[in-house]
Amino acid sequence: MARSLDKLTTLANEFPDSFLPIVCDVSDENAIKNVSNNLKKKNYFPNLFFLNAGLAGEEAAENPRKIEAAHHHKMMVINYFGVLGWIEEWAEYLNLKEKPTTFVLTSSVNVFFAPPGSAAYSASKAAITKTFESLQRSYFDTCLRFLIVYPGPIATKGLKGNVPFTWSAEKLAKYMVEHTLKGQYTMEPSLFYSVVTRLLNWLPGRIVDKILKKVL
Ligand SMILES: NC(=O)c1ccc[n+]([C@@H]2O[C@H](COP(=O)([O-])OP(=O)(O)OC[C@H]3O[C@@H](n4cnc5c(N)ncnc54)[C@H](OP(=O)(O)O)[C@@H]3O)[C@@H](O)[C@H]2O)c1
Repeated sequence: MARSLDKLTTLANEFPDSFLPIVCDVSDENAIKNVSNNLKKKNYFPNLFFLNAGLAGEEAAENPRKIEAAHHHKMMVINYFGVLGWIEEWAEYLNLKEKPTTFVLTSSVNVFFAPPGSAAYSASKAAITKTFESLQRSYFDTCLRFLIVYPGPIATKGLKGNVPFTWSAEKLAKYMVEHTLKGQYTMEPSLFYSVVTRLLNWLPGRIVDKILKKVL
């Protein structure tokens, strides 16, 4: 599922027996409802949801010294409600049918430490991550699972510059599938960024200011 029909068609041609291409813009809550209703009518019961669609990198970047509520709104619509919409449509529906189902969220290490110029992105990821944490606890004794992935930088089109320890999208995809199938509740693919962001969050603010002065 994505907005780009061309990319979906390429995948459908590559996997003709197993790939059902669906065009959907997750910023449109009615589109999420329509797609879900069509699948339900056909008695499709997805047992694994990779809720990965989101704005990141250049598209998510903002002027560090300028707050624009419209940008925050856009990020929340896609990165928060664009994920939540699927949970609303499917979680209780599949729980009542007692269908074992896993929802996987692509979060970010920005949840541990929000760098400058990423207020809206970090806020949207933190919000949906907390929702996932709570849902996992709310549904702990049911057939539903809510898993969270905290990637560091991934070499996608939006990632500009030379960032150390960047993973390829393919490497992350393989990692996510492998660890999801193991049922791992939280996945932290980048040891480096998981440690560094937690350390920065833990350090006293004045030391972080000094580090930022040197780095920026
Ligand atoms: N790149 C990184 O460094 C990084 C790090 C941590 C986490 N992440 C997370 O990884 C996820 C994927 O990001 P990415 O870096 O791979 O970006 P990307 O290359 O731009 O991919 C974004 C994906 O989301 C889809 N998408 C975007 N907006 C959509 C919408 N409104 N409706 C439906 N699909 C939409 C895009 O497909 P269409 O354009 O065809 O719709 C595309 O498949 C995001 O949740 C991001 O926050 C990325």
